[in-house]
Order: sequence, then C-alpha cells, then structure tokens
Amino acid sequence: MHCVSSPDSTSRCFLLAPSARDAVGFVCLAISDIVPRVPPNRYSKDRHPHDFYPTPSLCSRPLVEWLAANTSLDASDPWLDPAAGDGDLIATFRERWPGGFWYGIEIDRSHRRSLEAVANRILLADALEAEWPAANIAANPPFKLLDRFWSRMAEHRRTHGVWGACFTPVGYWQAQRRVHLVRPDVLLALAYRPRGFGNIRTGPFQDYVWAVLRPTPARETVWTRVERPALTLVSPPPSRGARSQTRG
Ligand SMILES: C[S@@+](CC[C@H](N)C(=O)[O-])C[C@H]1O[C@@H](n2cnc3c(N)ncnc32)[C@H](O)[C@@H]1O
Repeated sequence: MHCVSSPDSTSRCFLLAPSARDAVGFVCLAISDIVPRVPPNRYSKDRHPHDFYPTPSLCSRPLVEWLAANTSLDASDPWLDPAAGDGDLIATFRERWPGGFWYGIEIDRSHRRSLEAVANRILLADALEAEWPAANIAANPPFKLLDRFWSRMAEHRRTHGVWGACFTPVGYWQAQRRVHLVRPDVLLALAYRPRGFGNIRTGPFQDYVWAVLRPTPARETVWTRVERPALTLVSPPPSRGARSQTRG
C-alpha cells in the first residue's frame, strides 16, 4: 500500500494504492478528477479567489467567427488576454488563426504551464496594475472586476486604436450605475446559455454577450444575436468490415 498526497497544499488528499504505479495513477486522478481545482459552482461558499472560470469554446467561437466575417483582422494582428487563466479563450482564437501572436496576463501563477502552451508571451501579474502591449483585447475577466477591466479596455482602445471584446452578463449593461461607462460598439448576444465553464457546472442561469469596442467608436451600438455554434465532430474513418457508427 502506498500513501500518496497531492503536491498542491490547497487540495491535499491521501489515498491508499496497492502499488507505486497505481499510486501515480491515483495522484493524477486525485488532482484532475477528485479534487476540483475550483469550486463546483459559482455560488459556492469557497468561491475561487480569482474567479477562474475557463471560457468554453461554445461561448468564444461566435466572437471569433463574427470577427472573421465582419472585420479585416487576421493572424498577423497581435492579441492580449489580460485575464488569461489556462488560455482557453486564446486556444479558440488559434483554431481560426493558428499563427496569431498572443500575450497573456494572469494574476494566478498556477496557470503558468497551461498558459505557456498557448500564448507567445505571458506576464504573471495583476493586469489592472500592469502595462498592456499595443494589441487587440479579448477577455473574460472576473465579473466582480468588470467595471475596472472594461474601463481599462476602453482606455487602451483610445490610446492604441485596437479592437476589444469582453464577455459579460447581458444584465450588466442595464444597470443605472454603469451609464458612465464607455458604450460598447457591438453587443453579440449569445442566443443560448452555457451549462458550465470548464469543469464547473453552473446550470443555464445567465444570458451573456460579447461587448465589442471597435478601433474607432461607432455612433450607435449594434445589437446582434449569435446562434449556438454547431459541434465539430471528428471521428476516425470506419475500419473495413466494421458496422457504421453513424446514426441514420
Ligand atoms: C473567468 S476566468 C477566464 C480565464 C480565461 N480567459 C479563459 O478564457 O478561460 C478569469 C481569469 O482572470 C484571472 N484574474 C483575476 N483577476 C485578475 C487580475 N487582476 N489580473 C489578471 N488576471 C486576473 C483569474 O485568475 C482567472 O484565471
């Protein structure tokens, strides 16, 4: 029997495994499956201190598709995610523009490895204090910091004439106390509700929009509904003689 523990002190657990090999398997299982990296839902008492909720491609693909169809942006344009987490949002952009140059800023150092795998340059710092490179912005910041991130994005657009996109709840824009905020140029309203963020189940509670800033402010805000993206299923070719797995 081997007693193993997670190296992460916040998610420490002990398991009994019959052999050293099994123990390794148990550690992987313990870290990725048994011990959640984040609380199971956003209403938990133990809410993640930095609000790490990975952006599902279900939510980010409509933004990328809209940008590809409605702007002249391409892989040569640099981008910044100032609240980058593990880089899920960046990864979705890379599906469309694989060669793009991405900066990622993240306050929580535990995301370093994952982020390095998708971003070209990373900064582990508080994005609200750090200097931002002259790049377009795509962000899904903690909602409790939305006012500050949005204002920073608007200031960045004014300085550099770049695009900005921020994921927000729909109701965010209705509040009277936010009338002073810079108005989005485009609201891309998701016509569906996500059921979770990464491994966090939330239930379909909220309606969301991508609030977009054009490089130059538009005279009016355009509201557009975007449909749920179709699932892309990649299946291996059927082996000879095997029965078809596809539904008729
Ligand atoms: C909702 S998650 C989004 C993560 C990522 N953008 C994605 O697409 O999966 C918000 C992220 O912002 C990070 N964060 C929170 N406050 C921050 C700050 N002041 N500066 C930089 N990152 C911050 C959190 O640690 C978390 O990883």
